Amino acid sequence: MAHVCICKAVTEEQIRSSVNNGAKSLPDLAKDLSVTSCCGLYKEHAKTILNETNFEDCSSTV
Ligand code: FES
Repeated sequence: MAHVCICKAVTEEQIRSSVNNGAKSLPDLAKDLSVTSCCGLYKEHAKTILNETNFEDCSSTV
């Protein structure tokens, strides 16, 4: 399983499920999972997954 945030040991899966549970932005994810709250090294990666997951959500409702 790929970690998106090493400091907080947050995985891609956890980000996706957080987005599916209503997280819409990095601050939402940070609040929910503490992702990027330490060094912020993988901020862009977390954002990419956030966007991808939101995109998948949109396409599944069409
Ligand atoms: S790797 Fe995520 S805060 Fe450091």
